[in-house]
Order: sequence, then C-alpha cells, then structure tokens
Amino acid sequence: MPQPSASDRRQSVRTGVVWDGVRRLLEDGAFDDKQARIVDVGGGTGGFAVPLAELGHTVQVIDPSPDALASLDRRARERGVADRVAGQQGDLSDLPGLVDGADLVLCHGVLEMVEDPAASLAAIAGVLRPGGHLSLLVAQRHAAVVARAMAGHFQAARELLEADSTTTLAGRGGRRFTHDELVTLLVTAGLQPSSVHAVRVFADLVPGSLLDLEPGASAALVELERAVATRPEYLPLAAQLHVIAGR
Ligand SMILES: C[S@@+](CC[C@H](N)C(=O)[O-])C[C@H]1O[C@@H](n2cnc3c(N)ncnc32)[C@H](O)[C@@H]1O
Repeated sequence: MPQPSASDRRQSVRTGVVWDGVRRLLEDGAFDDKQARIVDVGGGTGGFAVPLAELGHTVQVIDPSPDALASLDRRARERGVADRVAGQQGDLSDLPGLVDGADLVLCHGVLEMVEDPAASLAAIAGVLRPGGHLSLLVAQRHAAVVARAMAGHFQAARELLEADSTTTLAGRGGRRFTHDELVTLLVTAGLQPSSVHAVRVFADLVPGSLLDLEPGASAALVELERAVATRPEYLPLAAQLHVIAGR
C-alpha cells in the first residue's frame, strides 16, 4: 500500500477532527436516503466535496473563484466522481437562488470573510430541509490572539483581543469567533448546535519538520487532536471550531 505523502499527513492533522464529525453525521442515520444532497459553500478546490462524492453523495460546490472551480472539476474527473459533483460560481449570499434544498451544508473557512455572518447563516438555514444539518468550521479568536502575540505582533494581538464577531480586520484573515458568539449567531438563525469540537489545538504549534521526519508523529498528533477535541477547556486554545447544527 502506498504511504501517504507529507502533504497528505499534514492535511490529515488539520482536518481529521472535522472529517470525524462529518462522517459521524452521515453514518448516524441522520439522513433518510443513503445519498445525501450536500452543498459545500466556499468549497474551493473540493478537498471535502470530492471525498464526499466518493462516499456516494451528490455535492454542489458554490464558490466565487473560477480558478478553484476549475481545480475542483479536474479533481472530480480524476477521481471518477464528476457525475456527482457540480461546481457553480456564486457567493454565500446567493445561496437561496442557487440551491433547491439541502440535507447538509458545509461552510468551512468562509464565515470569516463574509460581510454579514448573521445574514449568511440565515441564508444557509433557509436552504436546509427540515432535519438537515450545517457543518460549520470557523477560525477561533483566542488562539489567534495568542498566535499573534507569540509571533511578536503585539499590536495585532491587541486589536484582535478587542474585536468581536462583527469586526472585520482587513488583511488579517478576516473575522474570528468565540464559541459563545457562534452559538448565539446559530440560534438566532434558527439552527440548533448539536456538537462543537476544538480543531487544530496543537497542529499549528508543532514544527512541520517534526511531522515530516519523525515516523508515526502525524498519526500520533491526529490521535492527540481527537482526544482533546471534545474537551470544553480546549475550545479557547483551538485555531478553529467545528460545529454541527441542525434545522
Ligand atoms: C479558506 S478557503 C476554504 C476552502 C474549503 N471550504 C476548505 O475548507 O478547504 C475559503 C473559500 O471560500 C471562498 N469564498 C470566499 N468568499 C466567499 C463568499 N462570500 N461566499 C462563498 N465562498 C467564498 C473562497 O473562494 C475559498 O475557496
């Protein structure tokens, strides 16, 4: 069996906990049909969409970037799932006009960039069928404050410390959210959080060279990330929060 590449190993460290949550949801009997209708908004080049199509689901990817959609197309064709993956150019705010009902919406790494997160979540809630779910992955503020301070960017750390989820910090990767802010936004949009996981608690702190050179290090780190993902005390240390919320 071919060994995973260094880039695959780094990717599994970053996304292992998120995949666990999405897979659990799909396997839990949350969907009546075996083939769920999934919308991946801001799905980019298909890092989630294509593997989900390989599991037998149909995936509509909505993304404003034509380059990302071209890569998605190529990846879906190479992996033999082009018939189950449809890329469409568009914005999260266009969702109601582009989507005709979804069992699951993925919104990973996008809410940080939109103009109005509350309106975006309401748009997502509006296209979810009753009983459908949202898989939401967002950057978490407290860890970002620490990361900036550790890099010596004290002013940037201070600005982020004073920000809230309504603040856009130009040029610094967009908004950051705390767990409480996220829950309030979701509930206001009519979505009920059912699980929240800490993502990348350690992954960004460990030198890449250690993962590349030390045999078994990536797999051990994935297991460590899994072990802390459900512990509330680690949520403020996580680079990202993954929330599953139902309609
Ligand atoms: C950080 S990448 C995340 C890609 C993918 N979701 C993932 O988790 O690997 C953000 C993606 O969101 C897209 N994007 C940016 N603004 C958007 C918006 N307003 N509506 C929808 N997608 C957006 C970008 O083109 C990009 O593909």
